[in-house]
Amino acid sequence: MAIKWNIIHRGVTESTNDDAALGVHGDVYTADYQLSGRGRIGHKWQSPSGVNLLMSAVLDVTDMAPEEVCTLPLVAGLSVAMAIRDIIGYNRDVKLKWPNDILIDSQKVAGILCERKSDKVIVGIGINVLKQDFPKEIALRATYLGGETKIHQVRDGVLKWLSSLYCQWREYGFASLWQKISEIDFLKGREVTICQVDDDKNAITGLCVGIMIDGSLQVGEHVIYAGEAHVKL
Ligand code: BTN
Repeated sequence: MAIKWNIIHRGVTESTNDDAALGVHGDVYTADYQLSGRGRIGHKWQSPSGVNLLMSAVLDVTDMAPEEVCTLPLVAGLSVAMAIRDIIGYNRDVKLKWPNDILIDSQKVAGILCERKSDKVIVGIGINVLKQDFPKEIALRATYLGGETKIHQVRDGVLKWLSSLYCQWREYGFASLWQKISEIDFLKGREVTICQVDDDKNAITGLCVGIMIDGSLQVGEHVIYAGEAHVKL
């Protein structure tokens, strides 16, 4: 079983996640430029035109338990990580930073924003592809794929993995993918701080045990189901 993707491309749009809200399972919305691209916890996702992959895929989650649906962002993260590995090779360190940032050599190359719409999940993926200068505030923490990589090649690579891992997830559950995710878990063994909002006064700090088999993150004695992780490098 594989997903038959239907790609709809726009030059300029507000947000591909908004476009995808009207889509059905297998629809993929891409754009060169977003006027109101968004990231997690209310952040903006700004990207110059035609330089990065901006893509939102619609996936069906009918009849799935809510706690299993919550693991889909990690499945999407694993798909992006595998596609990036295929492109840049295995010499560089590609990691998944819970809940779903993708890092190369500890710098963020991709972010994922999953949004639920009734029996569908919109998986919004932003990947820095071509060489670019990042704004000062993120320059030290961000990277791009670079080299000869083409945006459509990255799109096709991610969709190939997303199809395969989504089908495995549907058939055998998140537990069947946990080992692979655990192998690329960036936070495991690090001292982390987990925030629910920017400058969270109730942030949790501790040694990260890692991503658990239900998709949660264990930090010290705490089991965390949502949040943003910060690490001192
Ligand atoms: C994050 O790291 O905070 C998630 C970023 C997700 C950005 C992508 S770009 C395509 C899709 N459309 C959006 O508006 N956001 C996602």
